[in-house]
Amino acid sequence: MQAVPTGDQNRGTTTMQAVPTEETVEQVFKNIKVLNGMPQSQLYPTMRFMAASLGTQCGFCHVFKNGQLDSAADDKPEKQTARVMIKMVLEINKTLAQGNPTVSCYICHRGRTSPQGAPTLPQPVPSPRSTIAGGATPDASARTAPNSTPVLPSADEILNKYITAIGGRMAIDHQRNNLHLKRRVRTLRSRPDDS
Ligand code: HEC
Ligand code: HEC
Repeated sequence: MQAVPTGDQNRGTTTMQAVPTEETVEQVFKNIKVLNGMPQSQLYPTMRFMAASLGTQCGFCHVFKNGQLDSAADDKPEKQTARVMIKMVLEINKTLAQGNPTVSCYICHRGRTSPQGAPTLPQPVPSPRSTIAGGATPDASARTAPNSTPVLPSADEILNKYITAIGGRMAIDHQRNNLHLKRRVRTLRSRPDDS
């Protein structure tokens, strides 16, 4: 129990009043569309968390007007995108963990504005390397004897399977990864007739 001045002049006393729930962000700030219901004291920590997750400053989403951060203004598309992202994260957590914040901006962004869409390749490949061909599992002799078997798919087949598996070529914006993978596949096959 805590005496809290409410500013309500009609109320004679505040002594029997339970601790009021904290004001929410939309009660304190001007232009809240997705963070509704969040305790207002969480707003700045949330903003700092978002900025750090993307590796940016406040100005990545907010504009400065007359040298002041005009955080209520919706001028920047990045702010709009951030709203979509916040909604997405809230939805995911509702589905995934009954609202426990297990997914955050940082899970994808890792300090960048554009999350990395594909793993950095090559990954260390465990030995024996039998599963690289996605189902075709050449035995050990196939890997060691140069001309023994035609079961290994081509580098392009492997690459296409890989691209399909991770959700399409769109996801790979770094040509670098493809080159690494091709080189890796070539090394793995290490067949003399490989072109
Ligand atoms: C990744 C984008 C992003 C970054 C970075 C960011 N914000 Fe925000 N900020 C938003 C969005 C989106 C909203 C609106 C939330 C909503 O609609 O519920 C907002 C709202 C606010 C508000 C409430 C404005 C109002 O009156 O409605 C304040 C204050 C604020 N941000 C401050 C900051 C500060 C300070 C920083 C830097 C520490 C920061 N923000 C960094 C996206 C961002
Ligand atoms: C499920 C993964 C994921 C999560 C979680 C996520 N994002 Fe994103 N975000 C993305 C992807 C993918 C893009 C598109 C990047 C691109 O276009 O290269 C993106 C783009 C953005 C952009 C636009 C960047 C730009 O350069 O214009 C902003 C702003 C952003 N996210 C903010 C957030 C914020 C804030 C959160 C947490 C509330 C968040 N994101 C959570 C995946 C995610």
